[in-house]
Amino acid sequence: METLRLSTSDEDLRRAGGIIRAGSLVAFPTETVYGLGADALNAEAVASVYEAKGRPSDNPMIVHIADATDLYSLIKGGRSGISDVASKLMTNLWPGPLTMVFKKSSRVPDVTTGGLDTVAVRMPSNKTARRLIREAGRPIAAPSANLSGKPSPTTAEDVLEDMDGRIRAVIMGEQCDVGIESTVLDLTGDFPQILRPGMITKEKLSEVLGRKVYYDPSLLRSPGDDKADEEFKPKSPGMKYKHYSPDAKVRIIEGDEVDFADKAKEIGLEAKGRGEKVAILDYGRDASKAAKKLFADLRELDRQGYDLILIRALPSIGFGFSVMNRMLKSAGYDVVK
Ligand code: TXA
Ligand code: MG
Repeated sequence: METLRLSTSDEDLRRAGGIIRAGSLVAFPTETVYGLGADALNAEAVASVYEAKGRPSDNPMIVHIADATDLYSLIKGGRSGISDVASKLMTNLWPGPLTMVFKKSSRVPDVTTGGLDTVAVRMPSNKTARRLIREAGRPIAAPSANLSGKPSPTTAEDVLEDMDGRIRAVIMGEQCDVGIESTVLDLTGDFPQILRPGMITKEKLSEVLGRKVYYDPSLLRSPGDDKADEEFKPKSPGMKYKHYSPDAKVRIIEGDEVDFADKAKEIGLEAKGRGEKVAILDYGRDASKAAKKLFADLRELDRQGYDLILIRALPSIGFGFSVMNRMLKSAGYDVVK
């Protein structure tokens, strides 16, 4: 299949909306990462997303909406299914990189939610994304637009690297602002729980809600932790798969600038001795910069044939905790203290 390159013009977005309505796939920019979009209410279209990504089909998708009113028909109880907590978060943090998990309505096909009785919904702040959803005239189910297991794409070129020839169209938008995926917050339990950390931090959520918000305990796994695996079983099905991995081996190194440089040099020399090509990524202590660049850098280093990538650990607080979550996964939790 030839993959169309579409612009963000009104005409091209109208065309993209038509492609979604016809049951085909369109990759599009959001503020976090590029999404691979299908009509969320069309089971066949959604099933073809799994195929294009090479993704296990029990992995539920995020449903993207353009307006708060789009939420009502997707969740159990309709408008009255929106709790005070959800309502506060919608008012303060939507549109934006926050995904909320609700009990689903029967209108959402099982394949969209990987057979769960809940549905994850987000209203992106990216204008192109919202224009596309409105043009399509229906909610858009979209995982990140990468082949399963690869780092998420943050540019249209990175989407094409994985998806050219596999999908109908890509909207050639801008580089993503945030660079890592949205925060996923479960609102179906007794208290709100973060299933995947993102730019909307635990601290921010707690501040908006005026109450403590917790992480899914599986997110608190530290390297070499010897607690039973059962304790780290993530509630967000997607978190259990190998993720964000370039072909190169990744190692995280802790330490201040000098300490990091020393350790990276030592490990790097050893690897070079074995004939390996070694890259070093030091984003300092800047989580926003690291988030914006991490996935693009990992992909670029793969293109350049690196064997080993040494990344400096970020302070694991606030947004740094979220970016470290992606770094740790890409490294398979290999950390040099
Ligand atoms: O920023 C993002 O969220 C991007 C852009 C495209 O919006 N999308 C994204 O989708 O990252 P994906 O499929 O790569 O990740 C979706 C995550 C997975 O960890 C999945 O398990 C979780 O959301 N998820 C989806 N539906 C869920 C549900 N009903 N209950 C619990 N977790 C859910
Ligand atoms: Mg993904």
